[in-house]
Amino acid sequence: MPSLLRGRLAPLLAVVPLVLALVPALGAPAAAGPDTLFPRLGDASYDARHYDVRLRYDPSTNRLRARTSLRAVAPTRLTSFQLDLVGMRVTSVRVGGAKARWRRSGQQLVVTPRRPVEGRFSVTVAYRGVPRTYRDPDGSREGWVRTGDGAIALGEPVGTMTWIPSDNTPGDKASYTYRITVPTGTTAVANGDLARRATHGRRTTWTWRARDPMATYLAMVAIGRFRGYHSTARSVTGRRIPVWTFADRDHDVPRSVRRTLPRALRFAERLFGPYPFTSTGMVVDDADVGYALETQTRPFYPFAVDTVTLVHEMAHQWFGNSVTVSDWHDLWLAEGFATYTEWLWEARRGGRTPAQQFDSLYAQPASARMWSPAPTEFTDSRDLFGAPVYQRGAMTLQALRERIGDADFFAFLKIWARTYRHGNATTADLVRVAEQVSGQQLDQLFADWLELDGRPAGY
Ligand code: TRP
Ligand code: ZN
Repeated sequence: MPSLLRGRLAPLLAVVPLVLALVPALGAPAAAGPDTLFPRLGDASYDARHYDVRLRYDPSTNRLRARTSLRAVAPTRLTSFQLDLVGMRVTSVRVGGAKARWRRSGQQLVVTPRRPVEGRFSVTVAYRGVPRTYRDPDGSREGWVRTGDGAIALGEPVGTMTWIPSDNTPGDKASYTYRITVPTGTTAVANGDLARRATHGRRTTWTWRARDPMATYLAMVAIGRFRGYHSTARSVTGRRIPVWTFADRDHDVPRSVRRTLPRALRFAERLFGPYPFTSTGMVVDDADVGYALETQTRPFYPFAVDTVTLVHEMAHQWFGNSVTVSDWHDLWLAEGFATYTEWLWEARRGGRTPAQQFDSLYAQPASARMWSPAPTEFTDSRDLFGAPVYQRGAMTLQALRERIGDADFFAFLKIWARTYRHGNATTADLVRVAEQVSGQQLDQLFADWLELDGRPAGY
């Protein structure tokens, strides 16, 4: 959304004259080609603005009845367009209130409106069924994941299309409203702010609003018999940020972990600038997927939450969620930063310094998994969550810090978070910002660390 970035530029320029040179770059349209790793997903011919997701879920049968309305903008006239959806039975599709023709083709729902759309339009899809769990090429599970007493929807990298017909690519961010109807006594949690909870006899509808732009992979709903904790966290600037935390009744979150959350938030704010969203919290549920996920505003944790993972998912709110990749091959922009934040946190707690973390990783043999494929060069989605993206990504930041010095490095972190706040960014954008902040030419350093197959020499 380039227009969003333009709106953010004025205050930025007032405070940081140094980044004046960024203006032309920000005016350029976002890359809109097919994703490197998931070329069939997403439709660049329109821009999703808002998803209104209505769900009715029965935990005893795992059946969902749903109606999602998407408001979008088409810059040019479209005779048909595509949403991503797997599984579920579609019962109707309307565009601007009129019945539209549609067909399913692989993971696509192809919609042909009665009349072409141009400019603002809306599409409403009614669908039902038992949503699918999606198995990634690396064997991990995402999408609609059943738990002991309900389900949780996890979307990285592509699982959101199991329950929301969507423009399922990280380059198209939108706001969301969820209205989730469940049996009274069951809780429905999602991203953003709890706006309303209305009970009508045996059913309760939970309304959540996520106003800030969000990539589809960060959408989350968790349904179950939860214990809820509501409080506020004080930001470093004194802002009161609502905290909504929910835990499966059998996997409670210890008070010590809940007390760490505002500390991790302030730790990240001091490094990266103001927390980018309207609320925070966590969801602790018994979905045994083997990973935690930085679902926007409210990360998911499989059971025991450790502090370092909490810090990692908190860092993602800036890097990954506010500043989002445009293409999956740039995922180190999220995972390298989140891993580096763990290093900074551990050092602050008297553990190893980032320089020590770097040295011990650098000492790994040239044959170690971390050195190949290079962080931005993988072409197989099985490599998305590998050591090159996480560890070598974090090492890239340490190499940058060594080169440009602490003052410029920590200024760069804040400027990066601020320039692309609520937007999308690429590795090329990052190189440009780092060069402008430091006044140094850094393309070779980034090429060594991000593109070169094998261990970079001379570091
Ligand atoms: N993005 C998650 C994190 O770093 C990790 C993650 C999501 C993951 N899906 C995965 C890791 C699948 C391994 C496999 O917090
Ligand atoms: Zn991560």
